[in-house]
Amino acid sequence: MHNIDIDVVEMTLDIAKYVINRITNTSPELGKPMREEDLKALVGETVTEEGIGGEKALQLFKDVLVKATVPIDHPRHLAFVPASPSRAAVMFDLVTSASSIHGAYWMEGAGGIFCENEAMKWLVSLTGLPEGSFGVFTSGGTAANLSAMVTAREHWRRQATNQGKKGLIITSIGAHSSIKAMAQVIDVDVHLVDSEDRLLGGDLSNAINDLSPEQRQRLFAVVATGGTTNAGIVDELDGVAKVCKKENLWFHVDAAYGGGALAADSVRHLFNGIEEADSITIDPHKWLFSPYDCGAVIYKEPELAKKAHSQEGSYLDIFKDEGARGFNPADYQIQLTRRVRGLPLWFSLAMHGTAKYKWAVECGIALAKSAARMIEEDPNLELVREPGLSCVLYRRKGWTPDDYKEWTFKNHKDGFALVTPTKWKNGDTYETVSRFCFINPDTTEDDIKAILDSM
Ligand SMILES: Cc1ncc(COP(=O)(O)O)c(C=O)c1O
Repeated sequence: MHNIDIDVVEMTLDIAKYVINRITNTSPELGKPMREEDLKALVGETVTEEGIGGEKALQLFKDVLVKATVPIDHPRHLAFVPASPSRAAVMFDLVTSASSIHGAYWMEGAGGIFCENEAMKWLVSLTGLPEGSFGVFTSGGTAANLSAMVTAREHWRRQATNQGKKGLIITSIGAHSSIKAMAQVIDVDVHLVDSEDRLLGGDLSNAINDLSPEQRQRLFAVVATGGTTNAGIVDELDGVAKVCKKENLWFHVDAAYGGGALAADSVRHLFNGIEEADSITIDPHKWLFSPYDCGAVIYKEPELAKKAHSQEGSYLDIFKDEGARGFNPADYQIQLTRRVRGLPLWFSLAMHGTAKYKWAVECGIALAKSAARMIEEDPNLELVREPGLSCVLYRRKGWTPDDYKEWTFKNHKDGFALVTPTKWKNGDTYETVSRFCFINPDTTEDDIKAILDSM
């Protein structure tokens, strides 16, 4: 399989043809899941002693398997946090794989890491963090949040009085599920401010004052959200920053989804205060048009991350040799061997320029505003709240939770759209509502109208 023969040539051409067709298809079939046994019945044995051949495997993938997936860049896929990787970024993802670069250490990956760092400089510049701040690309927001929390916890534990203590962080119920999940991974407790709305500095102060003296001693970090997953709400970052400073707490901003909006002049003011953060998560695979997977974690003091994450081993000493001096991404996040996953973003930025990124992000915000206007004009519909960044929550008057569910399944089954319900906390109750999240600049007002008309 390492020979270069006619099979490899044919397979390469077939794959190139598939890729070109796929990335030029602006309305790919909206696939839907199938039961595993049904997929197995359709494709049969694919992993055999002799192999089934590249042509057959690709054919099965094209004819059956990819049809059981939802293309995240479909213009009417407005569920969860969709994505819409630029064609340049997708193509360069192939180049990244073909180039076989080990992205952990400068010694092996210098040229690739250089490109990642050029893209990272732009990301850091969007945040307004001070000189010296820097970051690294991760597998996604979860890994970025985990890397930041480990750094914060290790920094806190360096103080002798905190050694051996179980840490505590504060966030709000609007924070993404990965915060709680990652707190479990590092065994720290989470205190939740019970509001899904904008977390204000005052709410945070009250929450800290409500802690017992024992809890207060264990509190080491606050996680604010720069664009909640559910509703696109940006916490009061300057207010939260002030409290963190006064209370000597690590200030992390999870802007995994909303971080792309730092590029958009129309909403940049909502993020004021982010420049005070100790660490920030931004996912280029969400709103910065990178293919999966690409997250990023940025630190105000990267040295603190290095102290927490840098791995030691006799086999790794060589990387610290004079000739290998440079930025080592492995030192700043949880992963050692890593793909240079920032390369597709770098290439697309280099090809298109940052102004196009600004424009593409503004499209999502404009689409949310258009959707809100259409909802207000429809007597059957009601906005739950004004759009937050590119998220719109709305209700279909008279609908039960089952109505939303059945409508979602029907649209998906028909290959028309994927728009899923969510819950919005209303006082003490949770109301099931419908939700749009716009990322793809190819989504049109006609798409939105057609979806709303189907309710
Ligand atoms: C605010 C926020 N944080 C973190 C995550 C987790 O990111 P990932 O799925 O890339 O791990 C998400 C995912 O939607 C998110 O919206």
